[in-house]
Amino acid sequence: MAARERLICASAALVEGGDGVRFEVAVYDGQAAAFAVRHGGRVRAFLNRCAHVPVELDWQPGRFFDLTGAYLICAMHGAHYDPGSGRCVMGPCKGRSLAALAVTERDGQVFVVEGDDGQQRQA
Ligand code: FES
Repeated sequence: MAARERLICASAALVEGGDGVRFEVAVYDGQAAAFAVRHGGRVRAFLNRCAHVPVELDWQPGRFFDLTGAYLICAMHGAHYDPGSGRCVMGPCKGRSLAALAVTERDGQVFVVEGDDGQQRQA
């Protein structure tokens, strides 16, 4: 299956450890909420769905990082996720992971990678 890219945002919209950008992706059963953040200089993207209970993580729209900017945090019960891997390192779903999405960045823009059927690619 060929891949195609869809623009999410300008690179400048994602600051290291700062607010994320929310977007929608197509999944097998419809649309799903997703988000992108910058961590370690790279853009990381995940489904916006906690590994504990399938609720969105952000405590305010686009606020995914904890106050230190080191971990992604779920607003519901405080699960902490490694922004690099999406793995829960503290909280009720420790050891489980967010669903990582394939993204690419070039020429000052960030793209999500999809199959030619419009379905989301996992990272
Ligand atoms: S729903 Fe995210 S930690 Fe419980």
